[in-house]
Amino acid sequence: VLDIRKLYAQGDVFTYDPGFTSTAACSSTITYIDGDKGELLYRGYPIEQLAAQSHHLEVCYLLLYGELPSAQQMIDFETRVTRHTMVHEQMHNFFRGFRRDAHPMATMVGVVGAMSAFYHDSTDIEDPWQREVAAIRLIAKIPTIAAMAYKYSIGQPFVYPKNSLDYAGNFLHMCFAVPAEDYVVDPILAKAMDRIMMLHADHEQNASTSTVRLAGSSGANPFACIAAGIACLWGPAHGGANQACLEMLREIGTVDRIPEYIAKAKDKNDPFRLMGFGHRVYKNFDPRAKVMKESADEVLDLLGIHDNETLKVAKELERIALEDEYFVSKKLYPNVDFYSGIILEAMGFPTAMFTPIFALSRTVGWVAQWKEMVGDSDQKIGRPRQLYTGAPRRDYSDVENR
Ligand code: ACO
Repeated sequence: VLDIRKLYAQGDVFTYDPGFTSTAACSSTITYIDGDKGELLYRGYPIEQLAAQSHHLEVCYLLLYGELPSAQQMIDFETRVTRHTMVHEQMHNFFRGFRRDAHPMATMVGVVGAMSAFYHDSTDIEDPWQREVAAIRLIAKIPTIAAMAYKYSIGQPFVYPKNSLDYAGNFLHMCFAVPAEDYVVDPILAKAMDRIMMLHADHEQNASTSTVRLAGSSGANPFACIAAGIACLWGPAHGGANQACLEMLREIGTVDRIPEYIAKAKDKNDPFRLMGFGHRVYKNFDPRAKVMKESADEVLDLLGIHDNETLKVAKELERIALEDEYFVSKKLYPNVDFYSGIILEAMGFPTAMFTPIFALSRTVGWVAQWKEMVGDSDQKIGRPRQLYTGAPRRDYSDVENR
């Protein structure tokens, strides 16, 4: 491997790489993607095996500590996370400062950033124990925060976490329980939610993870870094695509209108893109999309939803696109966001909650990557260079001479 940093330091080389298509900014042992094969491994374990056999908190442990936990390690980890699910009571007031019609992602960016004010005892990143506490706090509290953002947006009272439930079940409880009624978490929905969380848990150096690392490279505290990641994830080219995709599928509405949208996506004069299609790294099927598609069938079946028009449109759109010369030649396949919205909608979530659910699921990946970076002696402050294309040096002129 060429040590590009040495060459840079000597002033011998300069690469211009918008979008970092071929520049590695770090080394990592967490997640591996083979874009040509369509393979995704967390710490070496294939995502399909984890989705079928593991559960989200076990995946959290794996991503954070590098190995699958023993039974005792799992119990200890679960206990630690569970003990941190509550948020500081003052945070309720902080939430109440937002407009009710704010997008839950906007609320989450603010609230997660504000965690550094509520938990400043774990912002000392030099102390490995405080780093660990911050990591656990983030993973434990993010479902509570996402659920609170949701409850606030629909005008319902906040629901406190119920620690007898598992991670995914607890999130559903905080979103869907109301004080006036009993709420029993449906195990099928909890399993589907857990699978969505696992599939989104990490994805190496995507835009939001790179944002977390870049923010962290200056020594910023982990809450500030994760808030930066959430802000980046919101964009429709990244995590915001799950909301945009479902809205697009609804807009298409019926299978007979698909050709019209395929034509729009191919038209270079039209900015429209098929949401949920294409990926910077995968030039084959996104393995997460395959699992998600199976889950969509399973969840809808189990919920007794047999004639879901959106799912029909999605499947037909996928079939047509995969046979279309344009999509084939550009290697555009469905990505993780293509089917996730259908599952979340069937579970009862409004589209505005899709990206917050992505954010809560990805928090463990951001945290694991941040911890890895802080512990990496090779890391420097992130400071990309630029190719200057502005005016050459010129002299200031007085206003009357301009
Ligand atoms: N629909 C139509 N054409 C597309 C699409 C699409 N969804 N995606 C890429 N293309 C075309 C581009 O127009 C471009 O064509 P050209 O070579 O003729 O100029 C070519 O494919 C390459 O596209 P780029 O934008 O250069 O690819 P990049 O790697 O930068 O973008 C991205 C990847 C952002 C995911 C893109 O495919 C996209 O916008 N997809 C839709 C949004 C989406 O689903 N995002 C979620 C990604 S997964 C995630 O973040 C969790």
